[in-house]
Amino acid sequence: MPSATFYAESIPFEQIEKLAISGGCSAIYATSKPSVDVVGDWQSRYCSLADTFQPVLERVYNFEVREDDVWIVTSTKCGTTWAQEMTWLILNNFDFEKAITEDLTIRSPFLEFNGVVQNVPHDTIEAANKLTSPRLIKSHLPAWLLPKQVWTKKAKVIYVFRNPKDAAISHFHHWRGMVGYAGTKQDFMHSYIDGHVNFNPFWPHVLDFWQLRNEPQIFFTSYERMKRDLAGVIKDVGKFLSCDVPDERLPQLVEHLSFDKMKDNPACNHVKEFESMKAASGREVDEFRFVRRGIVGSHKDELPQSVIQEFDDWIEDNLKDYQLTIDDFVNYSKY
Ligand code: A3P
Repeated sequence: MPSATFYAESIPFEQIEKLAISGGCSAIYATSKPSVDVVGDWQSRYCSLADTFQPVLERVYNFEVREDDVWIVTSTKCGTTWAQEMTWLILNNFDFEKAITEDLTIRSPFLEFNGVVQNVPHDTIEAANKLTSPRLIKSHLPAWLLPKQVWTKKAKVIYVFRNPKDAAISHFHHWRGMVGYAGTKQDFMHSYIDGHVNFNPFWPHVLDFWQLRNEPQIFFTSYERMKRDLAGVIKDVGKFLSCDVPDERLPQLVEHLSFDKMKDNPACNHVKEFESMKAASGREVDEFRFVRRGIVGSHKDELPQSVIQEFDDWIEDNLKDYQLTIDDFVNYSKY
């Protein structure tokens, strides 16, 4: 990797072949103490990323942040798109007209997307550079791989947690539908638990933002809370961003963000990203709808009990030192 900030250690092919990654995947490490405190020993911290990410990591790290930027950061499949659409409308004075006519990926770029798919004409980092303020930027990177100015300029970050059993099953469908993964569900789940899926391991990603949750810069919420009390989360996000959310605008926004509306909203279904991923994979992929099932507990009827047990053991192993359970993240509310 042509960078002094990070170094990459190749993940052995036997460990990634299950994921059908053919071009290589690496564990990315920091070469010096990251600009944000991480939970645990920073030297042993890594992030798994397909090798296509390597050319963009340094560009992302040195990205010019603006103080009034708002960032949506999540582990994959935790409700990123839903939170982006909600936050974009709050930040943009409920401009529903623009929201339905302009693709969300243009209104709110996925900063490191050129790591997901290389050689596409659309450079998402350039697009983000050109966006007018206030910008809403999406990233799946862990805290220490985000642009360092996120931490020095104290840009606001909205972090969305989701039960990893549901996020993993959602990612499996995404990987099949968007990348053409033809392996088994079980193999995918094991790769997820082992931390080889892009942007993982999951728990350090979450715990870094959890430890920052009381900072004025951070808004930590969950997919489950959005399902339970979307209006409450909208009001809290308005407060966090100092944006007025009049009560009379709430019903329209809640309706716009409902699963049924978003499912049929082409601006929120990542159609453009899907096309470039399909072209880049060179594989036949099934038709895939990004806004897919939208429920809490989808793992219950999509995973065998033995895999659910493996997930539960992994969750307990990772959280026991912190005396935390899934409910702590799911039920947390900043205000
Ligand atoms: P499922 O695959 O479980 O249905 P991300 O945007 O982080 O990739 O997350 C995608 C997940 O969020 C998918 O989960 C998708 O269906 C769900 N989602 C998107 N919009 C939603 C909405 N309005 N209500 C509920 N879930 C939504």
